[in-house]
Amino acid sequence: MICIGHRGARGYAPENTLVSIELAITQGAPWVEIDVRELRGELVVIHDETVDRTTDGTGLLSQFSIAQLQQLDAGKGQQIPLLTQVVDLIDQRAVLNIELKDSASAPLVLALIEDYVNRGWSLDNFIVSSFFHHDLHWLKQQYPALRIGVLSAGVGMSYAVFAQELSAYSINLCGESINQQIIDDAHQRQLKVMVYTVNSASQCLALQAMGVDGIFTDFPSDMINLLA
Ligand code: G3P
Ligand code: MG
Repeated sequence: MICIGHRGARGYAPENTLVSIELAITQGAPWVEIDVRELRGELVVIHDETVDRTTDGTGLLSQFSIAQLQQLDAGKGQQIPLLTQVVDLIDQRAVLNIELKDSASAPLVLALIEDYVNRGWSLDNFIVSSFFHHDLHWLKQQYPALRIGVLSAGVGMSYAVFAQELSAYSINLCGESINQQIIDDAHQRQLKVMVYTVNSASQCLALQAMGVDGIFTDFPSDMINLLA
């Protein structure tokens, strides 16, 4: 079972910042997850649609220019990064799981990944996930080889069918609603099962015993050491 750095290593550093992402990699996370939103034609790495919780500013993201956004302190003197800064920082040392937090980010993420692949990067450096299944469907139509992870907060009546219909790589489920039936159903459909957000040793070990393939965790080093 792999440990995916959630918003970098947000248990130890300000979430979705370059230091947080670098820390997740140095702690040994093979994948790092971050959240992206579109702002004025750029891709910015932030979870919420406001800057209130994660910076020293207030207001909707949409009220800011990119330059204004980069004036904000995202914790410990860090800036809100652009997605290109994150990709360049990682530089193929880990798989980057890009979670789309809005529909407008989908075509921009596609263009960015195509650009890096055209420059010789392996497509395996990227995976795109989202709760917005129609945007994942659109991405898969545009770029069938792109790996996608389909996020869901609950377990529906048809288990993992919706992820198979999207030709997804994985189904990414909330740890509070996961059960053995959906894990087994996903595996029968050749889908990986990733679970968010797992920060306790007992839950981590229980999910490993259930056959889960990966966990998103705020504490990559703790979970990696536990599983070693
Ligand atoms: O991708 C897993 C997880 O990040 C999804 O939820 O709200 O933490 O982005 P959230
Ligand atoms: Mg996320």
